Amino acid sequence: MPDSERAEYVLQALKATGYDAVVVGDQEFLLGESFFISHFAPYLAEKKTPLCWSLFEPGFEFSTSNSLKTTVLLNLANNSRKSCFRTRKSMQFKKAFVEFAVTGYIDKRAFLFFPEDKSAWFGVKSVKETVSNKNTDCLNILLSHSGEMTDNEIASQFPELDLIIGGHTQTVLEQPEVVGKTLIVQAGGSGRYVGRLDLNLDKQGNIADYRYELVRMTQDIPSHPAVSQIVEEYEQSFFKDKKPRPHIQVYPDSFAVVAAEDCRDCHQAQYDQWAGTMHSKAFNIIEKRMKIFNPDCLSCHTTGFGHKQGFVTVETTPQWENLSCTECHWVKREHISEPQAHPLPVTEQTCKRCHTNKNSPDFDYKKYLLQVKH
Ligand code: HEC
Ligand code: HEC
Ligand code: HEC
Ligand code: HEC
Repeated sequence: MPDSERAEYVLQALKATGYDAVVVGDQEFLLGESFFISHFAPYLAEKKTPLCWSLFEPGFEFSTSNSLKTTVLLNLANNSRKSCFRTRKSMQFKKAFVEFAVTGYIDKRAFLFFPEDKSAWFGVKSVKETVSNKNTDCLNILLSHSGEMTDNEIASQFPELDLIIGGHTQTVLEQPEVVGKTLIVQAGGSGRYVGRLDLNLDKQGNIADYRYELVRMTQDIPSHPAVSQIVEEYEQSFFKDKKPRPHIQVYPDSFAVVAAEDCRDCHQAQYDQWAGTMHSKAFNIIEKRMKIFNPDCLSCHTTGFGHKQGFVTVETTPQWENLSCTECHWVKREHISEPQAHPLPVTEQTCKRCHTNKNSPDFDYKKYLLQVKH
């Protein structure tokens, strides 16, 4: 679920990293037109990141007017030499400098399952209008938020592209795909990897050879100081205002948060079985990853996070580390004195609150149930 507050922090972090060029994806539109115009558009337009202008039709104005004319044309076809940006900064080669032409492209199909009310206000140009007849003097790079299959299609259709840096399908490409002379790279999702591609260019500016590496973002890689600070502020803001965040799914306050030990008295067998599952130890991994303050992790790795009786911090509510029975069994407190007040039945939806596509991609209800049922 989109969360504008979190998006603002993400945007701050993005600014702190100082990318030369970015392309927006479908998710950037989920918070709606006014958020896009007030937050993403100014970022994209920042002078510091001139390449981003190539994503927009010249003349597009970042006004907040709601008139129908405020259409963002993401996919810009600009065949003139002006679309080449001279830059030394990105060069790692000894030979003078190379001209880059960076174009952003998001395919219509990236919006296939997108809510229509959120996408009606902008237009997406076709790949043909965007990419065709690129200037062959430049190193033509396409930042594409369109998915691996589409990137392959584009590469075979437009051999003048030298490199496609892809996204959307979150494909982890161990090696670049090569279509004709076009390289396609993609480095998975959620920042788990950073893709590094070193290019050696010949005198004509064509790619002579390359070295590619997928760098796994492990704990031992030093944090970016400015970004860490933003993350810290985000975590603290959550504990300061305690406002529920829309992306964190909480079970209703009308059900109780109860420690597994309090259920054990009457349900010893179920308790013993539960104690052998990872649910009873789910906090360990968060500690190991040093995420004990991150609400985005606590929501699924603790008991009752966001609920008024549930986990807050390790110091104040150590009893709610890990996942107690009540994460699956939504139970009224009365059940403990009047067992006839049954908990709600456990269904597939109960699990999917946490076993989302993102966090549990292999989730299969029947198979997983076998491991947790008592
Ligand atoms: C004082 C004893 C007692 C405690 C404490 C207790 N239960 Fe129960 N529970 C029972 C009894 C007795 C039944 C069977 C009631 C019936 O069949 O009407 C039951 C039934 C259940 C059922 C099955 C309901 C159904 O639909 O068949 C679940 C699930 C359950 N308890 C979960 C819990 C959880 C979770 C806790 C801790 C929050 C808990 N119980 C604490 C006595 C207890
Ligand atoms: C929406 C719920 C949810 C959130 C939010 C969540 N997790 Fe998890 N996490 C899970 C589930 C479910 C599993 C078990 C996945 C499986 O076995 O299929 C899991 C497993 C894990 C694992 C072990 C498996 C692996 O991928 O190595 C780690 C580590 C982990 N989570 C860390 C985190 C961290 C760190 C965060 C915060 C950035 C986080 N999780 C946020 C639900 C969540
Ligand atoms: C991962 C989710 C999950 C957790 C955590 C969990 N249960 Fe269950 N429990 C189930 C499912 C699934 C069933 C079977 C379906 C149902 O009864 O709704 C079940 C059934 C039960 C029953 C009914 C009798 C039975 O054995 O079928 C009781 C009692 C029970 N659980 C108690 C507990 C207690 C006590 C805990 C904590 C120590 C606990 N459960 C933790 C998922 C869970
Ligand atoms: C409140 C969040 C939450 C709910 C609800 C939940 N899970 Fe989990 N589940 C997790 C997390 C987090 C992990 C990973 C724990 C770890 O590896 O540290 C996990 C791990 C598992 C595992 C790996 C278990 C193991 O012992 O190795 C299975 C299987 C599983 N869950 C099944 C289920 C099923 C089936 C349901 C629904 C009946 C369910 N879960 C409900 C959060 C949840």
